Amino acid sequence: MRKFTCVADIGDLAAAVAEALEVKRDRFAYQHLGRNKTLLMIFFNSSLRTRLSTQKAAMNLGMNVMVLDVNQGAWKLETERGVVMDGDKAEHLLEAIPVMGSYCDLIGVRSFARFQDKTEDYEERVLEQFIRYSGRPVFSMEAATRHPLQSFADLITIEEHKRTARPKVVMTWAPHPNALPQAVPNSFAEWMNAADYDFVIAHPEGYELDPRFVGGARVEHDQRRALEGADFVYAKNWAAYADPNYGRVLSRDREWTVDAEKMALTNDAFFMHCLPVRRNMIVTDEVIESPRSLVIPEAANREISAQVVLKRLLEGLE
Ligand code: CP
Repeated sequence: MRKFTCVADIGDLAAAVAEALEVKRDRFAYQHLGRNKTLLMIFFNSSLRTRLSTQKAAMNLGMNVMVLDVNQGAWKLETERGVVMDGDKAEHLLEAIPVMGSYCDLIGVRSFARFQDKTEDYEERVLEQFIRYSGRPVFSMEAATRHPLQSFADLITIEEHKRTARPKVVMTWAPHPNALPQAVPNSFAEWMNAADYDFVIAHPEGYELDPRFVGGARVEHDQRRALEGADFVYAKNWAAYADPNYGRVLSRDREWTVDAEKMALTNDAFFMHCLPVRRNMIVTDEVIESPRSLVIPEAANREISAQVVLKRLLEGLE
């Protein structure tokens, strides 16, 4: 594997999950792969899980790890070509990227949607520049339109807990005070469609996702109807995608908060969320603390998804 930015890069999903479960049984079996190899993780945005789980996965594989927080201690980076750099940005990505590539073997990049320009976000201009100019295999640690390490961990978690071959998985919008990118819901939809689950997306009108990610999923505007018979409930907030409201918050309606009454409509569903989560906005204390909540094992599987991706990228170096 030479890059990891979307579900297509991982190939056959059954094989990827089988590899994940093998890695989970013995995390230190492939230490020879990472010996004398260096991972550089570059963060344009904050992180808890991605930072720690990816670093741990790299250490499990015997790698050295360097972390750069671009907004804390590094030069501010210009990302657009052709800009007259007379402002506060001291360095251009077009120099910084190959320099960073010269110090490492693999590069992970976190760069969220900025909501300033939909085309810039959906063309993944920052991530694509790393792929083009670093000279190294690049993987996404959440980009503008996708969060594939999270979605892979979500898939592993569902496969570990499902009780039927083709479970009903409902991704529901839920309220949040701020405008959040569509990367997690886009990516989750992409992976659930690829897994061929019975996949439903529930959201208020105005929160339609990019049809390229919705694919063949059933879309519901009645959250309660969507939740009926669900085996897994995946809650997430996102800002509007459709023009002219791209990046805007259209609703903070707590009628969409996932609570015990809504979970009672399901097939004794498991509750999932990628974290961090706003309690009593997205989900009530009662639901997230219930025995059906998978948020902690789901986060723990981030180490596993990252390790499979790093392992395959290291194998691709040989
Ligand atoms: N789920 C997730 O990516 O968490 P962080 O933003 O803390 O990395």
